[in-house]
Amino acid sequence: MRILVAGGAGYIGSCTTEYLLDRGHEICVFDALLNGHRQAIDDRAQFVFGNLEDYSAIDKTIKDFKPEGVIHFAAFIEVGESMKLPGKYFRNNVANAMNLAEACATNGVRKIVFSSTAATYGMPKNIPIREDEPTIPINAYGESKLMFEKILVWYEKIHGLQYTALRYFNAAGATEKHGEDHNPETHLIPLVLQAAEGKRPHISVFGTDYDTPDGTCIRDYIHVLDLAQAHLLALENQTSGAYNLGTGNGHSVKSIIDTVKSVTGKNFKVEYADRRPGDPARLIADSTAAKTILGWKPKYDDINAIVESAWKWRLKFPNGYQN
Ligand code: UFG
Repeated sequence: MRILVAGGAGYIGSCTTEYLLDRGHEICVFDALLNGHRQAIDDRAQFVFGNLEDYSAIDKTIKDFKPEGVIHFAAFIEVGESMKLPGKYFRNNVANAMNLAEACATNGVRKIVFSSTAATYGMPKNIPIREDEPTIPINAYGESKLMFEKILVWYEKIHGLQYTALRYFNAAGATEKHGEDHNPETHLIPLVLQAAEGKRPHISVFGTDYDTPDGTCIRDYIHVLDLAQAHLLALENQTSGAYNLGTGNGHSVKSIIDTVKSVTGKNFKVEYADRRPGDPARLIADSTAAKTILGWKPKYDDINAIVESAWKWRLKFPNGYQN
């Protein structure tokens, strides 16, 4: 398949690009390198340096490359920042994304696969979370993703552009070549690994008084290659809809710290801090729909293996893509 990957220089985008190339697909990465890395773009992919705010750039890229499918990863992802700069999130994650949808519809692309998020659910009442859980985001980031999901529903109805929105839970882990390198880093596993490397004086645990067995937040950490697999299945699938992607296992912040200590064999300082605003106590996916409808078969359900893959990548690339 010829696949355009918008945002292919970022964490999940680069791992998915590698996964697709390994399976013989032809890839064009379209990325403005705002948060992504030039070094994260696989040599086997074509690369177009461009920003989705520029309609003519994405339109020309689609006209030239003629993709059968498009995957859209090119969004801002920081929940905290979205609560300070909502305009930045709505402009890029909604308005600029519409340029991509419009260019797909205009040029007859069959399918778009969209990186959505568990943040569309807000504070879910039912755990594990199914797709019919009410979507009531509690931050501008989650709202921006939900808005674009809704826009895609109308592009399908009116233009026949099929879509799949993949609602990721907590992406984690790495491939041999590609891993997580955000600046600034805000995600738990890479931060704990940096503490293990001695690059941070300590790791802070945000909140110890949640209604969970050890008082810390519980998340569902899903390996990035399992996410990658779901994108290919979604492109091959001829229907539209939204799917949760997680392992169905919950891990507390404290248990992740213990896992990192055991995987790395390193000890480091842990500090207990206040809650971080906007954190739900528990997010665990029910991914039955992705398994039954898309045929998704995640391979990693062991958190040790997930953390180990991230650690191996850090050992190989101690300064991330700055090497
Ligand atoms: N945490 C800490 N200390 C830190 C960093 C994080 O205790 O230094 C805690 C957070 O409070 C949270 C958990 O670790 O309870 C996981 O936090 P992350 O920042 O790694 O991930 P989030 O669950 O906040 O968000 C991630 C993605 C979102 C996505 C969401 C869906 O960043 O884009 O998962 O589950 F929407």
